Amino acid sequence: MTRIPVAAPDLSGNEERYVVEAIRSSWISSTGPFVGRFEREFAGLCGTRASIAVANGTLALHLALMTVDLRPGDEVLVPSLTYIATANAVRYCGAEPVFVDVDPHTWCMDPAKLEAAITRRTKGVIPVHLYGHPADMDAINHVAATHGLWVVEDAAEAHLARYKGRPVGGLGRIGVFSFYGNKVMTSGEGGAVTLDDRALEHRARLLRGQGVDPERRYFFPITGYNYRLTNVACAILCAQVERIGAIVERRRAIYARYRAALEGIPGIGFQPQAAWAEISPWLFCITVDAKAFGRTRDELMVLLAEQGIETRPFFRPLHRLPPFWEESRRRGEVLPVTDHLGESGLNLPTYTLMADADVERVARAIREARR
Ligand SMILES: Cc1ncc(COP(=O)(O)O)c(C=O)c1O
Repeated sequence: MTRIPVAAPDLSGNEERYVVEAIRSSWISSTGPFVGRFEREFAGLCGTRASIAVANGTLALHLALMTVDLRPGDEVLVPSLTYIATANAVRYCGAEPVFVDVDPHTWCMDPAKLEAAITRRTKGVIPVHLYGHPADMDAINHVAATHGLWVVEDAAEAHLARYKGRPVGGLGRIGVFSFYGNKVMTSGEGGAVTLDDRALEHRARLLRGQGVDPERRYFFPITGYNYRLTNVACAILCAQVERIGAIVERRRAIYARYRAALEGIPGIGFQPQAAWAEISPWLFCITVDAKAFGRTRDELMVLLAEQGIETRPFFRPLHRLPPFWEESRRRGEVLPVTDHLGESGLNLPTYTLMADADVERVARAIREARR
C-alpha cells in the first residue's frame, strides 16, 4: 500500500536545469539573474507593477507590515481561521491582532463583521484568501477606506486566484505570498510581496536588504533586515512560473475528480465558492458533519491514516491558541463560524503528481468510513 501524502512539490520541468545553472554561474546568494527575472514574472502574474522576493511567507507578512508602518500598540483586524503566521507577523511589530469571524459563504473574513471590531487603535486589515478562495475584497476595501485603514492581502495560499476577474495580490495596498514546499508554486522556502506604489516598493526593498542605501555603499539610513531570497530558490521559481498553467490545470482536474467522487455522501460538505471567485486549487477541502457521517472529522483522519492517506485538519482557530487566547477573551470575541469550521474541516491530498487512481482511493476510503 503506497502512502499518499497531503502535498508534494512538482519539480519536473526546468527546475533542476536552472538550479545547476545558478550553481555553475556561482551566483548562489541573493544577487543573480533569476531573482530579477522571477520578480518581474511574478508581478506579471499578479497584475502588480512590482514584486519583491523574500525568504518565506512569514517574513513577507512582516515586511509588508513594516512597510505600511505598523507600530507598537496598534491593532490589526485579522481572521482567526488562518495559519498562525498571519497573526504572528502583527505581534512582531508590537501590535495586536483583533480577530474577526469568517463568512460561511467564503470561509474568509466577513466584511459585515469588520466595523464592530474597529477601535481608535485600528490601523489596518489583513484579509486571508483561505484555502485558495479570495476574500470579498471590494467590501473589505470599502470598510477600510471609510475608516482610513490600509489593507494587506495574505495570499499565501491563493496563487493566481481571481476576484471578479482580477488576480489576488494586487487588490489591497500590498499582497503577500508563500512558496513553501506544499504550495501551488514553490521553492521549498520562499515568499514575495506584490505592490504597485513606488514609494512603498522603495521602502520594502530597503527593509528587505539591511536598510542599505542603493546609491551609497555601506550607508544605512534605517534599521533594516536580511529577508532576501537566494538566486537558487528563484531559479526553481522561474521554472515553476513556466509551468504554472499546467500545474493549476492538473490541480483543477484533481478538484473536479474529488468533487464528483465525494458528492452525495451524507455528512460530507464542500468549500463554498462565491459567484465572483476563481479559486486557486491548493488543498481540496471537505467538512465532516459528525452526526450525518457517523464519525467525527478526527476519527475519519485516523481511519485514513491507517490506510496510508495523509490529511490535514483545518487550522486551529488562533483565538484558541495560547499566544492569543487571553487578549481575545478580554475583548469578548465570539467567532462561531470560525469555531465550527476549525472543528469540522479537513484538507485532502492535492498535488499534481497524484494519479487519478489515488484520488479515487482517497474518496473510496472516505465513503467506506461512513457509519
Ligand atoms: C495564510 C498563510 N499565511 C502565511 C503563511 C506563511 O508562509 P511561510 O510558511 O512561507 O512562512 C502561510 C503558510 O505557510 C499561510 O498559509
